[in-house]
Amino acid sequence: MDQTSYRTLDAGGIRAFLAGLPAIATRLGGLAEQWQVREVSDGNLNNVFLITGPAGEVCLKQSLPHVRVDPSWKMPLDRTHFEAAWLCAIGPLVGGLTTEYLHFDPVLYVLVVESLSGHTVLRTALMQGADWPEVAPRIGMFVARACFGTSLLARPFEDVFDARRLFAANQALTRITLDLVFDDPYRDHPRNHWHDSALSPIVLDIRTSAATLLAVENLRRRFLSQPQALLHGDLHTGSIMSTADDTRVIDGEFALYGPIGFDCGMFVGNLVLHFFATPDLAARQAVLRDIDGFWRSFHAQFTALWNADDAPPPGTLRPLAYGPAAHVAQQAFMDEVMGDTIGFAAIEIIRRLIGYAHTADFDSITDPRLRATCRAGALAFAYYVLDHLADMRTIADFLSCLEENERKGLSIRA
Ligand SMILES: Nc1ncnc2c1ncn2[C@@H]1O[C@H](COP(=O)(O)OP(=O)(O)OP(=O)(O)O)[C@@H](O)[C@H]1O
Ligand SMILES: [Mg+2]
Repeated sequence: MDQTSYRTLDAGGIRAFLAGLPAIATRLGGLAEQWQVREVSDGNLNNVFLITGPAGEVCLKQSLPHVRVDPSWKMPLDRTHFEAAWLCAIGPLVGGLTTEYLHFDPVLYVLVVESLSGHTVLRTALMQGADWPEVAPRIGMFVARACFGTSLLARPFEDVFDARRLFAANQALTRITLDLVFDDPYRDHPRNHWHDSALSPIVLDIRTSAATLLAVENLRRRFLSQPQALLHGDLHTGSIMSTADDTRVIDGEFALYGPIGFDCGMFVGNLVLHFFATPDLAARQAVLRDIDGFWRSFHAQFTALWNADDAPPPGTLRPLAYGPAAHVAQQAFMDEVMGDTIGFAAIEIIRRLIGYAHTADFDSITDPRLRATCRAGALAFAYYVLDHLADMRTIADFLSCLEENERKGLSIRA
């Protein structure tokens, strides 16, 4: 790829660039000089802009040769290439649960997608008290459709192997996940930080518990060695934009082939962070409902696709066994995904509390003592889960454990 003409676009550069793309210029309408360019970057990595014309709006994302919030941390530009490839792969599978792909430029590393300016980032909406019961089931549907449709259950192995080869090159971002999620939090590293000294004894417990560290090692190995499906790879509540009626998954730049429970676990882990960050009992009950609703929807959709009567494409692995034994084998596969989900959820909670990239959920708690208690509750819960993975046989076990923690948390808060 030609990297010699890469330049970071400012508002003028964005207008000139989009004016050269007839379909997008028509979508915006009017003259390029009339287009409003508004920066909405709020993540760590890329520049993101919304461009509004008299007839419509688009969203433009450009990768930088470094981490946006830390120019000294150099990074290859190709992450928008992988986000574009992910969007093209899963867009046709997920029935409108992501953004419409409009254009990718391989020299400027610019991705243009449909604008969702009427939607709110789910993490922000949750912090503002939104209670949208349909969102979590929609995410379950999204993960089921994207994962099933990119797996060996739905495609000939030749297609899957080609896709695996493409996404296996997304190594810079897979390295970030490996280091920031699975490694740094479990040892001293300058990128780690936590705000409350109340977390320090739990951090020490986590780092000195052989059982916990072996559980993390096992999940890390599974993350790299179980290429079950094309994952989003960073499915936290900041990678979802929603209204009450319409939900979209964005930001697939971390896409890779991996264990399906990784995407499920990222989402569930971030719901749990919100659970511990909200002092409102009804909102906490809503999180329990959402985790349950997510899993039920994922399970129902994934198994429905698996058991559907439509003929799979020629060359797809043909079932060799039918009847009760096949049903038991399918259940074993779903249980394995569930076990991964619970483990990866715990890992995500830990890294968001003591690693590099924290989430904003706890910032809305103004009392510092309460904030520390809530963060410590979340960290202690994740530690407990990793030490008791073998006892968590169902999502209901996981939810009872959360409720149990809630009861303990309430007595601490009182
Ligand atoms: N299609 C869209 N329409 C409207 N706003 C969007 C759209 N895509 C992204 N945004 C806004 O831009 C922000 C940053 O987008 P995105 O998360 O893709 O960037 P990023 O740099 O990859 O972030 P991160 O560092 O978290 O990975 C989002 O939080 C959202 O507010
Ligand atoms: Mg991103």
